[in-house]
Amino acid sequence: MSQHSQVIAIEWRQQTLQLLDQRILPHQQQMIECQTAAETANAIREMVVRGAPAIGITAAYGIALDALAGRDLEAAYKVLAESRPTAVNLFWALERMAALGTSDGEQLLAEARRIHAEDIAHNLAMGQFGAELLGNNATVYTHCNTGALATGGHGTALGIIRSAWAGGKIKHVYAGETRPWLQGARLTAWELMQDNIPVSLVCDGAAAQLFRAEKPEWVIVGADRITANGDVANKIGTYSLAVLARHHGMKFMVAAPSTTFDLSLNSGNDIPIEQRPMSEVTSLQGIQIAPQKCQAINPSFDVTPAELIDAIVTERGVIHQPSVATVAALLDSH
Ligand code: MRU
Repeated sequence: MSQHSQVIAIEWRQQTLQLLDQRILPHQQQMIECQTAAETANAIREMVVRGAPAIGITAAYGIALDALAGRDLEAAYKVLAESRPTAVNLFWALERMAALGTSDGEQLLAEARRIHAEDIAHNLAMGQFGAELLGNNATVYTHCNTGALATGGHGTALGIIRSAWAGGKIKHVYAGETRPWLQGARLTAWELMQDNIPVSLVCDGAAAQLFRAEKPEWVIVGADRITANGDVANKIGTYSLAVLARHHGMKFMVAAPSTTFDLSLNSGNDIPIEQRPMSEVTSLQGIQIAPQKCQAINPSFDVTPAELIDAIVTERGVIHQPSVATVAALLDSH
């Protein structure tokens, strides 16, 4: 089994939470310290830490911070739940912490550590399941960042790519740049290059031409929330990639732990989609690129319908041709 990546995005150190500031990667590597749940919520909202599983783990540690300091936990749960709306892992982690039914800081910290460790184990399991779906010498296309930075370690979609690389199955990775936050350019390319996995960065708008000319075997992406019928919310741009993949006869894989499923929702129409500030579209790293006062819309996620997805890889196994029946068959059987 491949080892998980050495990149550490979330670390509990000396009774504080240390987060690698993902806003300034790859050129600066700086940890930000959180001492309260409110500071932790702010770090999630401001994208210091991002990626569905990483947000959940971070929120769990945020609860531990306030519990250890004897602060009001009701307020801690509330401020963290309001940090970002789409990734269900956040709410899953908060519910799991609350389910302990205690305000004891050490017990809550131990639970946060367990959530963190389990996520790494889930990713390593997904890596094996996902890698088995790839042919030899595979070329793959990925979107956003789903690696060690976005999770407890190893990654979901990027974890599959890592595991497949370790098994000698990857020839080349194409990484979409992922406007407007450029998670693909700044984070995925960086993680892959650190592992010496061959990667070419692609402008989001170049995907159709690349698919026509090169026809990568698989598009592999992560997820922020998966509903009972197998619809998948993920980073904006994912839906277009799924449409393109189907048009070009390519296969489309989603990698997500069971903590990303929200079986209380029937379909992707019910998923709350985060709308982020216009300035993220009209400017680039603080420099205005659109005309002053230009309007913009900035949905952070989109929904890919289940019928465009060939496989959802979880730590429990693979859901082929996701539907209400196939999702329930895998999740209920455990
Ligand atoms: O806005 P972000 O960077 O938090 O969005 C991240 C994604 O959309 C990822 O693809 C998803 O969370 C899966 S991460 C393993």
